[in-house]
Formats: sequence, C-alpha cells, structure tokens
Amino acid sequence: MAVALITGITGQDGSYLAELLLSKDYKVVGVVRRSSTSAFERIEHLLDDITTVQGDLHDQGSLLGLLEEYRPTEVYNLAAQSFVPTSWNQPALTGDVTALGVTRMLEAIRFVDTKIKFYQASSSEMFGRVQEVPQSESTPFYPRSPYGVAKVYGHWITVNYRESFDLFASSGILFNHESPRRGLEFVTRKITDGVARIKLGMQKELRLGNLKAQRDWGFAGDYVEAMWLMLQQDQSDSFVIGTGETHSVREFCEIAFGHADLDYKEYVVKDERFYRPAEVDLLISDPSKAYSVLGWEPVVGFKELVTVMVDEDMERLSTGTK
Ligand code: NAP
Ligand code: GDD
Repeated sequence: MAVALITGITGQDGSYLAELLLSKDYKVVGVVRRSSTSAFERIEHLLDDITTVQGDLHDQGSLLGLLEEYRPTEVYNLAAQSFVPTSWNQPALTGDVTALGVTRMLEAIRFVDTKIKFYQASSSEMFGRVQEVPQSESTPFYPRSPYGVAKVYGHWITVNYRESFDLFASSGILFNHESPRRGLEFVTRKITDGVARIKLGMQKELRLGNLKAQRDWGFAGDYVEAMWLMLQQDQSDSFVIGTGETHSVREFCEIAFGHADLDYKEYVVKDERFYRPAEVDLLISDPSKAYSVLGWEPVVGFKELVTVMVDEDMERLSTGTK
C-alpha cells in the first residue's frame, strides 16, 4: 500500500490533497503541530480515514521519528508560515519553518530512506518583482518578502538534494490557488466572506489594500492533482503550475460583489494597513511544461472560482455552519 505523509494537512491544500490520496487508496499520515485548540476544521470529515500524528518542522527529531515509524513512500511538504504580511513581522520564524524546515525534512529522508519521494510546495511569490512575463521554470527569482526569500531557499535546497544525493525531490512552483477552504486573511476569501457578510447585513464595508495587484488565481482542488502527478513521474523535476491568466484584486471584487447583486465601489474602502512594504504587482504563469509533461490542466475557471467561493460563504453564514 502506498503511504503518503503530508505536512500541513490542516491547511487548505493539505485537506484537498488528503482527499485526493484517499480516493487513490493511499494510507494518509498527516503531521499536525501541537496546539491548545483544535486545528482540524478542514479535515474533520477525514479523521476516520487518515492517521494524524504530532510533529513540527522546527523539530528535526520529530520528523526523523515519523519517517522511521510510518515509512512513507511519498512525503508532501506543505507546511509553512504561508501568509506574506506575517513574514515581515516574524521574518526569523518564517525562515525557520518555511526555509530550514525543508532542509530538516530532506535530512530526515536522507537518513531514513533515500527512496522516499519528496514534494516541496514552492511558490510564485519567488518571482516577486517579475523578471519576465509570463513566468516559467527558467524565469529568475526576485522575491519581495521574507516569505518569498524563504521559499527560494526551500526550492533551491530541494533542487540541491536532488542533484547531490540523487533523491527524488520535486518542486511545484504553484501560483495562487484558492477555495472555500482558503484562510480568511488571504484577499480572495476576505472578499468573498466580506461580500456574504455585507449581503446578510452583518458588515457595512470591506477594508482592503492594493486593488491593482494582479494574480494568476486557480482552484486548490485542481492544484493538488498536479502535486501528485509530479511524484508519479520517472524523474523528479520542477514545474510551474497555474492557469496562464491574470486578474486584478479589483476584478475579483467586481465579480464577487456583482454575484451578490452589489456594486463593490459602494462597499470597498481602501485602507493603508493592508498595503505591503514591497508589493508583487503582477503574476502570470506559463504552465506549458506541466501541460505537456504531466498532462495536467486546470478545470475550474476564474469566474466559477469566485462565484463558488461567494456561494459557499453565503451558505455558511446564513445557516450558521462553521
Ligand atoms: P495554509 O492553509 O496556510 O496551511 C499551512 C499549513 O502549515 C497548516 O497546516 C499549518 O498548521 C502548517 N504549519 C505551519 N507551521 C508549521 C510548523 N512549524 N510545523 C508543522 N506544520 C506547520 O497554506 P496552503 O494555502 O494550504 O498552502 C500549502 C503550502 O503551499 C504552503 O507551504 C504554502 O506556502 C504553499 N503555497 C501556497 C499557495 C497558495 O496559493 N495557497 C501557492 C504557492 C505555494 P496549522 O493549521 O496548525 O496552522
Ligand atoms: N491579504 C490581503 N488582504 N491582500 C490584499 C488585501 C487585503 O486586504 N488588499 C489587497 N491585497 C493584495 C495583496 O497586496 C497582494 O498583492 C494580493 O492581494 C494577494 O494577497 P494574498 O491573498 O494575501 O496572497 P499572496 O499573493 O500575497 O500570497 C499567496 O499566494 C502565494 C503564491 O503566489 C499565499 O498563498 C502564499 O502562501 C503563496 O505562496
């Protein structure tokens, strides 16, 4: 039986990846960091089918122990301090988890079993002040946040262990991907949650930062399929995963508010607190390598993504479910 160990299983992507791997008959082991409250909101429905274990990317021993005990065939390293603004307030912690945490997992694999296949969750945030449009696997990185800098380290240490120790270590350079399970502080979910609250009379306005920023937004459920495909190849490699389209935060607002018969201009208030010290203005992927090598393509388009997220937030808030 294939055994997958997922770090970050309580996060957006971890929950979709666990569902995908269960549907493929994997034994799924999810690494959860110790907390005084439960972080199982996104995987509550999976708890009977997966094994959750305590571990932390800060702690080398816990990773070694987990690989020894569960002997996974595949490790998906999705755990990170993943919110870009927090990375300016907690840059050292971000580097410790998001950068060095990758090395700790790679070291654990090197010591326990070099046959384990490894997936690293790299990010389009590494392109930062973009050096090329669109961005592909060969576009130089120019990160604009401590998070982006940490992800560049995570990407290159993955490539380095692939080349130095012959590990099967793949890096997925994923552009922004969203879903109704997205954290509420990320702009897409902040908008769809805000739209639902305004429509239901629970909130009067929505305070946002830079509406001009452009992102290549896809659906998280489609992107976890690409992660799995990367580990089914004959050789490990790096792949850009995105839709090849870009849209502004303003466009996202227009569609999200419009879907609830509201005009965003009447509710969105610009707030300096949500501007960043250094912005990533434009991201747009060239995913042609993934299309041709992995045979992967996104299914859910931009408008469908936005409207589904609004609908789910309306449903959640109007029925009082979580
Ligand atoms: P997310 O929802 O923020 O989930 C992050 C996960 O990491 C959570 O399960 C969190 O646990 C866990 N975690 C944080 N610190 C940890 C530590 N020290 N030890 C163990 N686990 C820890 O992120 P996501 O959107 O699912 O993204 C998954 C990965 O892809 C991340 O590495 C992210 O940086 C990367 N990525 C995301 C996108 C995107 O658009 N979503 C794009 C490119 C790359 P708690 O639940 O306990 O907080
Ligand atoms: N969060 C947030 N809140 N962002 C805002 C706001 C706001 O109120 N107003 C405007 N924005 C703009 C940000 O300035 C940024 O340009 C854009 O919306 C997207 O912000 P986020 O949704 O926070 O995502 P991100 O692009 O910074 O980072 C996400 O995508 C990366 C991949 O490119 C995260 O998921 C990262 O973990 C991921 O690596």
